[in-house]
Amino acid sequence: MEQRLINKQIVLGVTGGIAAYKSADLARRLREAGAVVRVVMTENAKQFITPLTMQAVSGNPVHDDLFDLTAEAAMGHIELGRWADVILIAPASANCMARLLQGEANDLLTTLCLVANAPIALAPAMNQSMWKNTSTQDNVQALLAKGIHIFGPAEGSQACGDVGLGRMMEPVELVQQVAALFQTGCLSGKKVVITAGPTHEAIDPVRFITNASSGKMGHAIAAAAVEAGAQVILVCGPVNIATPAHAVKIHVTTSQEMFDAVMSHMSECDIFVSVAAVGDYRCKTIATQKIAKTAATMTLELERNPDIAASVAALAKRPFIVGFAAETENVVANAKKKLLSKKLDMIIANEVRTGMGGDENAVTVLWGDQQVDFPKMTKQKLARKLIEVIKGANNAT
Ligand code: PMT
Repeated sequence: MEQRLINKQIVLGVTGGIAAYKSADLARRLREAGAVVRVVMTENAKQFITPLTMQAVSGNPVHDDLFDLTAEAAMGHIELGRWADVILIAPASANCMARLLQGEANDLLTTLCLVANAPIALAPAMNQSMWKNTSTQDNVQALLAKGIHIFGPAEGSQACGDVGLGRMMEPVELVQQVAALFQTGCLSGKKVVITAGPTHEAIDPVRFITNASSGKMGHAIAAAAVEAGAQVILVCGPVNIATPAHAVKIHVTTSQEMFDAVMSHMSECDIFVSVAAVGDYRCKTIATQKIAKTAATMTLELERNPDIAASVAALAKRPFIVGFAAETENVVANAKKKLLSKKLDMIIANEVRTGMGGDENAVTVLWGDQQVDFPKMTKQKLARKLIEVIKGANNAT
């Protein structure tokens, strides 16, 4: 269950209440489960626990001010709202719940909740009389009707000496509840090999032939596959991007090295996703010394590199193979040709100017007689959708 939280981006909202002391443990547990946590504190929350504590346990700067110029320059409230895969407010005070219901935007936390497109979950914590009060109960019903998740509260003795419903749910249970919001885990037990980035084909000791692939799409697919529970091997050309948590990265430089690394991991591979922009050609001979600038023109003799995806497809025991096609014209028609000629199971077509180098992509997925279009979105979001499609198509084979 907790595998579902790997790489998930969680805004942890902390409001004013004695249960705020448990928020530090909650942040720590969410991180242990693989999530990236950014804490947003209200002014009242800071009466109960310090931003320094929350910063230390979350590993990220704490956000607490809607009008903080330095925060806005780094990750402003709009970006933070869009960044979140889920907003969990724990503890959620009666006041916070009432303000959320009214759609107020008079502090950072309530403003974020208006901006965010992500699910919102509240872990109420308050005195049992406040919880039982009909105003609070009416608010709870109205928040549930809006699709906001309410976790708890739990029953028991309270800091004020009362006994009853109103304690914040324990952090260990809250982690489970948040994990259950994510419908992934669909690749549990599967081994997935992914290639990413460009390759370098040497001309001489200082020059090489390459392309503009940044490796972002391949890394996003790797992260989404990990989130979905897969064991992930990422064979990556020369780019400098952090390895997604829990993925194993193999660094390669040339197409031949990428070929060798992929082939050595094909046993027990269930799904191969060939995202890399592999160099189709390499120099027939690589100069051992730097080529001097003498002649007015220069000709390089190139020879074909092995086609990795087609070679995997030729294996007697082959995985489900997903290729990408980077095209500048006739995008879908050209991708279809590659799907057939390389004997792939699926191909994901993208237009080079849209998909190469940047943080977003738009694609058309083709397999069998099926076609699905995904509009422009971040490579992270797209990768999650592609993993769902790949899983569905793989199941059907
Ligand atoms: O890295 P980014 O900046 O995020 O950009 C992402 C991307 C645009 C590179 C990616 O989405 C993409 O389209 N990757 C495939 C690029 C490509 O080389 O396409 P192709 O049409 O040349 O190759 C078709 C398929 O064969 C690809 O799956 C490719 O990995 C594979 N191939 C190609 C040549 C070769 N020698 N071996 C291969 O396996």
